[in-house]
Amino acid sequence: MSFLTRLEITSVRNIEEIKLDLNSRLNIIYGINGSGKTSILEAAHLLAVGRSFRTARTSTLISEAKTGLTVFAETSHQSRIGLTKTNREKHKLKLDSELQGNWDSVARKLPVQVLDSKSFLLLEGGPKARRMFLDWGVFHVKHSFLRDWRSTKKCVANRNILLKGSQLDVSQLEVWEAELCSSAAKVHAARQEYFQKFEPVFRRVYTSLVDDTADPIFLEYWRGWPEGESLSTLLSAERERDRRYGATQNGPHRADILVKAGDRNAIDVLSRGQQKVLVCALKIAQGILHETVVDDKCIYLVDDLPSELDLKNRASILEVMYKLRCQLLVTCVDLSSIQNCLNHAAEKRTFHVERGTITP
Ligand SMILES: Nc1ncnc2c1ncn2[C@@H]1O[C@H](COP(=O)(O)OP(=O)(O)OP(=O)(O)O)[C@@H](O)[C@H]1O
Ligand SMILES: [Mg+2]
Repeated sequence: MSFLTRLEITSVRNIEEIKLDLNSRLNIIYGINGSGKTSILEAAHLLAVGRSFRTARTSTLISEAKTGLTVFAETSHQSRIGLTKTNREKHKLKLDSELQGNWDSVARKLPVQVLDSKSFLLLEGGPKARRMFLDWGVFHVKHSFLRDWRSTKKCVANRNILLKGSQLDVSQLEVWEAELCSSAAKVHAARQEYFQKFEPVFRRVYTSLVDDTADPIFLEYWRGWPEGESLSTLLSAERERDRRYGATQNGPHRADILVKAGDRNAIDVLSRGQQKVLVCALKIAQGILHETVVDDKCIYLVDDLPSELDLKNRASILEVMYKLRCQLLVTCVDLSSIQNCLNHAAEKRTFHVERGTITP
């Protein structure tokens, strides 16, 4: 079971230095606006995945007037993971004292799920957010997926460059298209297999979180090109059209999960709070499936859990998440907003954050 036993953060945003001994179940991080709660989750995410969930620019996480940040964690598997990032140099990531060239091994050791205000992008954003969501699951289940997905993206990028040339180099196009079709088939098969397992788990979780009167939600996987059509035929038939668009219009880089309430898009029907319940159900379902397939638990980073949720929804989401027996790092402004919906026997630690430090 993956969880963090210790998290040490230095020079991240307004945090000078924080050392947390974490509970294996629930950790409530509370404090007023601007105290540094999200920054703690951000640091944990940066260590686990290599990027923040708030910004694409890691250097903005480095505290003003400091030249670099460090994040260090110990896990329940006795792994020690350390990250240093300075303003000037590339990051240094170490797993058990061994320098890592990329995040693949650390990300597999620390499967983190984030729930924050940006998670709404799963419903209201473009397909990329939903593809990334789906691929998180596939990445952890199928180790060859990342290689095939990288190859797909490379083929699409090279085909797009050729399409933008003044003259079509058909023989070069054929080479990239053949390679694209080969990796696309593997990417699609892995995604489809994962989705088929995911969908019933999601349905069960969602139904347990909403009452009987709620519209049922349907998920549909779209592979990125029409059913019944061969990608190879489409790519060669659509070269002129793709050339006009300046980009390849068919392929797994266009895959999506359609989220429907009846025959309408869920985003057009659900209230903000209902959307949050739906997003929570998607993330919880992914955690459940992760445990079933990989036999490991996720770590949930939940930023501002109470926002948008009424007491009943807050309590039921917290209860379902707690019962997952995963490690939860949950932030809130007001401690009572979480404590009021918790069973008194819940195993937990609370951390009060004030101006970037933990205070009693
Ligand atoms: N690079 C930086 N250096 C120093 N301080 C920073 C940096 N980036 C952001 N901050 C400050 O860090 C503080 C903590 O931000 P954070 O988002 O973690 O607060 P929070 O406790 O989550 O607040 P909220 O309840 O409003 O979400 C903010 O006051 C912010 O202005
Ligand atoms: Mg915050």
